[in-house]
Amino acid sequence: MKVLMIGDVYARAGREIFESKINSIVKSNEIDVVIVNGENTTHGKGLSKEHYDFYKNLNVDVITSGNHIFKHRETVNFIDETPDLLKPVNMDSYTPGSGFYIFEKNDKKICVINFMGRTYMDNCNNPYEVMDDFLDLELDYDILLVDFHAEATAEKIAFAWNYDGIITGFVGTHTHVPTADERILPKGTAFITDLGMTGPINSVIGASPKSVIKKEKTGLPTRFEPANGPSVLNGVIIEINDNNKATLIKRIQEFN
Ligand SMILES: [Fe+2]
Ligand SMILES: [Fe+2]
Repeated sequence: MKVLMIGDVYARAGREIFESKINSIVKSNEIDVVIVNGENTTHGKGLSKEHYDFYKNLNVDVITSGNHIFKHRETVNFIDETPDLLKPVNMDSYTPGSGFYIFEKNDKKICVINFMGRTYMDNCNNPYEVMDDFLDLELDYDILLVDFHAEATAEKIAFAWNYDGIITGFVGTHTHVPTADERILPKGTAFITDLGMTGPINSVIGASPKSVIKKEKTGLPTRFEPANGPSVLNGVIIEINDNNKATLIKRIQEFN
């Protein structure tokens, strides 16, 4: 089983490189499952129904998200009908949608669960408490994949260590900057601190440098405009053996 996990797809530039590369990546690497973080898909923040359909038309199995998931009001209205679009599971439970999804591929039951961090992020519930409650449910799955959407590297690393051997594959997202620390932890969890983004290179984590610099210099309310131009696609491929153990995690990076 080979799982492809792609980091935050950012606005039009991100969608374009994703659309142009995904089929060849899947084909040449014999990928079985595709998971994409889509929280920045629609103009840099959030995910419209049109862009949810965009991913499903490209055979994406599960779309994870993060702090921007409810940026567009329409997402609140459709997320209950799209169980393969995840909100962070430790978000306020009064919000609609689910934070995990179980599906079948190649006779394996795969569970994907999405968390959000608490350091320099919006308020959310303790991810350890929520994970322990989730594990207590003893749901029926063979493979457990985690997207931990968080700013702080150590927060993601500590969480992965705490569930080493329980999680099959752990990827961090949100910073939009890929880390080079992919490895298999001692008890078998495939791990990377951050996938990085899929979006415009000449940008500040996706937005045009001009708009971000204005905000940094003046502190005035500023609308961040998505950048355009050449883009990068960042992700990992995780290989999982018949005993549901991760055997390899490999970074991929493509440019257009
Ligand atoms: Fe993001
Ligand atoms: Fe984010």
